[in-house]
Amino acid sequence: MSQLRVAITTGGGDAPGLNAVIRAAVKTGMSRFNMEFIGIEDGFEGLINTRRIIKLNRDAVRGILPKGGTILGSTNRGNPFDYDIKSVDGEEHTSDLSDRCMENFESLELDALIAIGGDGTMHIAQRFFEKGLPVVGVPKTIDNDLLATDVTFGFNTAVTVATEAIDRLHSTAESHQRTMVLEVMGRDAGWIALEAGIAGGADLILIPEIAYDRKDAMRFIKRRYARGSNFSIAVVAEAAREANQQNTETQRRRTSDTPGTWFAEMVRQDLDVEVRLTILGHLQRGGSPTCIDRMLGTRFGVHAAELVAEKAFGRMVALNGTQIVDVPIQDAIGKQKFVKPDGQLVRTAESLGIYCGRPLQW
Ligand code: F6P
Repeated sequence: MSQLRVAITTGGGDAPGLNAVIRAAVKTGMSRFNMEFIGIEDGFEGLINTRRIIKLNRDAVRGILPKGGTILGSTNRGNPFDYDIKSVDGEEHTSDLSDRCMENFESLELDALIAIGGDGTMHIAQRFFEKGLPVVGVPKTIDNDLLATDVTFGFNTAVTVATEAIDRLHSTAESHQRTMVLEVMGRDAGWIALEAGIAGGADLILIPEIAYDRKDAMRFIKRRYARGSNFSIAVVAEAAREANQQNTETQRRRTSDTPGTWFAEMVRQDLDVEVRLTILGHLQRGGSPTCIDRMLGTRFGVHAAELVAEKAFGRMVALNGTQIVDVPIQDAIGKQKFVKPDGQLVRTAESLGIYCGRPLQW
């Protein structure tokens, strides 16, 4: 069997489990398919400037399974098709450096690229595939908002961290008779808020998919106090919004005026109770992956190496039910998965008496 030389790169925001993918792909490729690996650092930036490559062998991947982040570095900038360049006189413009990447790929004598990343990385991977680059995609995001895969690795770790935060907030909320607001990540989707809120036993869960009514939400908290529950825990997704509110999540994230901040202020003003706000932020993305994310990352990595061996390029690994499958990258990009307001998960939360942004029907 002739030896295939395979590059791996990680792009976009990091997610716990990236190192599990790298390790599994390298181990599988070396032991089963006689492949040789290099790592391209900082996403596609490392293909623009080829000094940013490292050798990936068994020594390089030893001990990385429990590590958070990515040993290859990552960036959510640096799209080679639309690359930001600053000239010597300080002027900024964009340039298409994709041909340079293709040449560098050739000069590194590579046979394949495994691109691990979110939707942005998959878009770039698809464009390179269309230019003739043999690429295999591996999806990642803590937000779990990609339609093409039932679950992405990183999500379980984020939910676990957020659940633990809710557990911790419970005891202090109860001691001080406060309303605690916990803002969690998830971009435009409410998966982290909803799952962590249910798992942590929150009283309110506000997600972008269900715009909440201010009066309604306040009435819910007031009723809790009136019934003798002297505290409340509200989990607010970073893109949650009040009904009729126009701002997009992206606009809001650029300001310090986040949905959690708004909601906490609302409770303070309308109910005259003590409120405290916690914005969990990147704590949800950092640190060691849970065993579920290690497993999923590992299974994705093994399948990515198998796809390279089969020369099944232009495909992305995915989870379908309990099976690892692969789909055309083209079919996976730009398709997001959102919480269904009338789906099972919201019904589960509401069945427990959790307020999810609309009056409970029972
Ligand atoms: O997509 C992952 C994610 O962590 C989102 O949940 C969050 O909105 C965003 O990335 C944060 O991005 P950054 O790390 O660039 O601040």
